[in-house]
Amino acid sequence: MNHFEYGPEGLACEGVPLARIAAQVGTPVYVYSRATLERHFTVFRDALVAAGIVDPLVAYAVKANSNVAVLKVLGDLGAGADTVSEGEVRRALAAGIPGERIVFSGVGKKRGEIAFALKAGVAEINVESEPELNLIAEVAAGLGLRAKVAFRVNPDVAAGGHAKIATGKSENKFGVSFAEAARLYANASNHAHLEPIGVACHIGSQITDLTPMRAAFAKMRGLVEQLLGEGLHVERLDLGGGLGVPYFNMPEPPSPAEFAVMVAEAVQDLPVKLAFEPGRVIAANAGVLVSEVIHVHERPEGKRFLVIDAAMNDLIRPAMYDAFHDIRPVIPRTGETTYDVVGPICETGDTFTRERALPPLAAGELVAFMSAGAYGAAMASEYNTRPLVPEVLVDGDRFAVIRARPSYEEILARDVTPDWV
Ligand code: LLP
Repeated sequence: MNHFEYGPEGLACEGVPLARIAAQVGTPVYVYSRATLERHFTVFRDALVAAGIVDPLVAYAVKANSNVAVLKVLGDLGAGADTVSEGEVRRALAAGIPGERIVFSGVGKKRGEIAFALKAGVAEINVESEPELNLIAEVAAGLGLRAKVAFRVNPDVAAGGHAKIATGKSENKFGVSFAEAARLYANASNHAHLEPIGVACHIGSQITDLTPMRAAFAKMRGLVEQLLGEGLHVERLDLGGGLGVPYFNMPEPPSPAEFAVMVAEAVQDLPVKLAFEPGRVIAANAGVLVSEVIHVHERPEGKRFLVIDAAMNDLIRPAMYDAFHDIRPVIPRTGETTYDVVGPICETGDTFTRERALPPLAAGELVAFMSAGAYGAAMASEYNTRPLVPEVLVDGDRFAVIRARPSYEEILARDVTPDWV
């Protein structure tokens, strides 16, 4: 459930009409619902607990929506943070999420990033390769610390979904094999500056079928049993993120409750704590991208383009993953026509959707891209020197700008022309 419903002033986020936000902040603009963020986090965690999983660490995947205000909303509910860069670790800390709830993942962590994470006392560094393990050991030794590490295993399972976001096959760059994990775990256990605490996996994103997850988790269970059988210390199994959400015309994903029951069946009786890294399922349906129609361009042969002021730099998912977001008029309209919905960027890829049935719309009207709270603003850029899209958080009948649109002066001031040019 989300909190975007039509009211007397059109589509609203909780108690605030989107048209009011657009009038004050301008468009394009991302709008997030605090109540939805809170609800999604609580539903996810409560589903795990209801399935019998004791004290799970739900480390929200910061990459999905990394605004510090969003992180604070989730952190205040007890969320941890799954991070993949020093920048994300800093965001989580800035939001008040303590180091002991921060997981540091990612295939190419640099020396300085590892040092920063160790000094912040992160709960675990997910190790993706042997050279990375060696680098972590070296950095920890330099700091006189012991690095808590978990080995990210590549379970070699096809997760379905779009190839660009499938991570669990051995040809993908992520994680070590089961054999390597067992060998590295044993070695690391004897290292003065390494403290192996567990194993981790993450097989992909926008997963709408539990079967590949179940297969991957069964393999992870086997690994945990093997390590325990070898007398090694294992305290945490991190099962990653990946649970999908309903997008336009896409298969219905399993509910958090169904996911939790599957997890419990697969691994609950292991003598380890479980960690999760959900991103999309928390943030996607908590946000929309509001945009204004600039023109309706009708070709004589019948093609109709809805040219809007949001573009692929603001929401790249359709161009990058062939994704479809539901598009709704902010003020309800009757009738139906078809549009190719496009942005102003000079690329054919700047097309949000083709031949989409929508009510007739005119220049100046507003549309909302639904389910845009995850991998929307977080992936936005200033391509074509379009100012970075702003973000707004709604709480009941109040709202605040949580990331302002930069001015052109600010954008231009970042470029430096050397005096020899
Ligand atoms: N943990 C790890 C190690 C990850 O790589 C990811 C996402 C997550 C957790 C969170 O996955 P989620 O629960 O959100 O599915 N930009 C793409 C999605 C990329 C996902 C990358 N990794 C999109 O817009 O569809």
